[in-house]
Amino acid sequence: MTIKQLRSAIQDLKQVALSDISPVAQKQQIYLGKKGQFNLLAKKILDLPLTDRKKAGQLLNDLKSELETILTQTNPAEQEKWIDLSIPGKKPKVGHLHPVSQAINQISRIFEKIGFTRVRYPEVDWDWYVFESLNMPPNHPARDEWETFFVDGPTHPELGKLVLTTHTSNGQVREMERLHGQPPIRMINIARCYRRQQDATHTQMFHQFEGLVVDKGINIQHLKGTLDHFAKEFYGPNTKSRIRPFHFQFTEPSFEVDFSCHICQGTGKVAGNKCRFCKSGWHEVGGAGMVHPNVLKAGGIDASQYTGFAFGWGVERTYSLKEHLNIDDIRLIYSNQSNFLKQF
Ligand code: PHE
Repeated sequence: MTIKQLRSAIQDLKQVALSDISPVAQKQQIYLGKKGQFNLLAKKILDLPLTDRKKAGQLLNDLKSELETILTQTNPAEQEKWIDLSIPGKKPKVGHLHPVSQAINQISRIFEKIGFTRVRYPEVDWDWYVFESLNMPPNHPARDEWETFFVDGPTHPELGKLVLTTHTSNGQVREMERLHGQPPIRMINIARCYRRQQDATHTQMFHQFEGLVVDKGINIQHLKGTLDHFAKEFYGPNTKSRIRPFHFQFTEPSFEVDFSCHICQGTGKVAGNKCRFCKSGWHEVGGAGMVHPNVLKAGGIDASQYTGFAFGWGVERTYSLKEHLNIDDIRLIYSNQSNFLKQF
């Protein structure tokens, strides 16, 4: 062997050691062990002429210390193979219900506890259920209040055109029919509704929940008691409800329903200034009233024996008024922005 051959053998050995992916202990054995590659090579020094041996000794010494550093390093490929089963696992991210589904569950539970039955009726329904049975004959101007989407489809000889439901009140006469005109009725109908309008407080698709109670002797106090109960359960024990005179074709008398603002406690003032959240102390959430006798008749109920109350509000609006939420643009709820939705 010549010194030149030794140099190249040293290079080769380094390369092989560098790319070896065996575990560290095993590598130490292969290269630096008693019968390892280094010692095998070092023995070759005896083949060299005496004049070259000093130089060869230096080269081998350098190789040895280089091998010592190379071999203590864990090869990246080896690290990948290594799995420590004792390390605590990574928890997969768990999603949660959409805020509207959470609100629907909460609303259902509040009413179910006081004897209401949750029902669902079609979201594409006949004109009869959406308007006519609710005391709004064809061409009645009150229909204009609901920015209706009509479905381009067949017209039923008695029930009229198909529409996307503009409110959950279509469930009123459907529920009376389900019970064959035999009260008591205590229904909570939650469903999607559709209207041709879109801005910060309206989306073309939204949800409403509709309460309907029909029995002997039902009066406004029962309505007011139910509203108060809901306000306390949904918004907190200090919340009050208020009803103001209004007009709907299907209730008489009719009301708008307000809940007291949780920021100013219904006073309209915060530290002497106008409350910025509600401006007046109250938030309007929706409509209510005593069921009109014509609606009871349309559902086959004897209006001389039975009376009832009904209310209908938007789920998104009712929910967005909850304390700490301050959702000022309802469209965000349907924006699919996970950063927004994650907060709930
Ligand atoms: N359906 C009405 C609306 O969408 C609300 C309402 C329901 C009013 C029941 C009175 C009784 O505005």
